[in-house]
Amino acid sequence: RFEAVVFDLDGVIADTAGVHEAAWRRLAAEIDVPLADDIGERLKGVDRRASLDIVLEQAPRAFDDAEREALAARKNGYYRERIEQFGPQDLLPGAREAIASVRAAGLGIALASASRNAPLLLERLGIADLFDHVVDANRIRHSKPDPEIFLAAAAGLGVAPSACLGIEDAAAGVASIRAAGMCAVGIGSYETLGDADAVLPSIAAFDLGAFATL
Ligand code: BG6
Ligand code: MG
Repeated sequence: RFEAVVFDLDGVIADTAGVHEAAWRRLAAEIDVPLADDIGERLKGVDRRASLDIVLEQAPRAFDDAEREALAARKNGYYRERIEQFGPQDLLPGAREAIASVRAAGLGIALASASRNAPLLLERLGIADLFDHVVDANRIRHSKPDPEIFLAAAAGLGVAPSACLGIEDAAAGVASIRAAGMCAVGIGSYETLGDADAVLPSIAAFDLGAFATL
């Protein structure tokens, strides 16, 4: 019944959620901003500038636009330092198999990642050629939970959103998929992703056939 599957990248295919969080924590420590223990969950799926706003919630002073630009760039530098070392070993277990199973079933495959580092990451992971369409995050005006990025993925594939299955690890991402009119598979805990049509503990449990009745 589905004609395409649209994957998120960070936390679904690539083991990067902790890398993003560590880079923000390094930045926050340098500017003496305290971060809550559970900040990582709130940063999932949120674009770079909106993430910075969350990180600066407890800041002891205000930062102007130029300073914010510089802070976001600094965090990205820390993130890039780490992912430039990435290779196929940094794929989450079962990710390559999940994508390959979609391809074997003859369905379209797209990537809907908010990350402007997504093309680099796909190259480092050795999976760039498995995607029929990769949404350019630079061209997305409204970040998740807005549906724009998943709608762009469906348009890029030439498939109706209602014929797409979206896969996400972030609550904002599941909301984006649902708002786009797609079926949503959440990767993580039911507690966080209860709005999804199905929740799996990891991408390793992905079984395309199991979603035929969604
Ligand atoms: C998302 C991540 O995929 O991309 C977020 O879940 C990240 O944590 C966002 O902030 C933007 O990424 P980047 O690489 O453009 O800073
Ligand atoms: Mg994600």
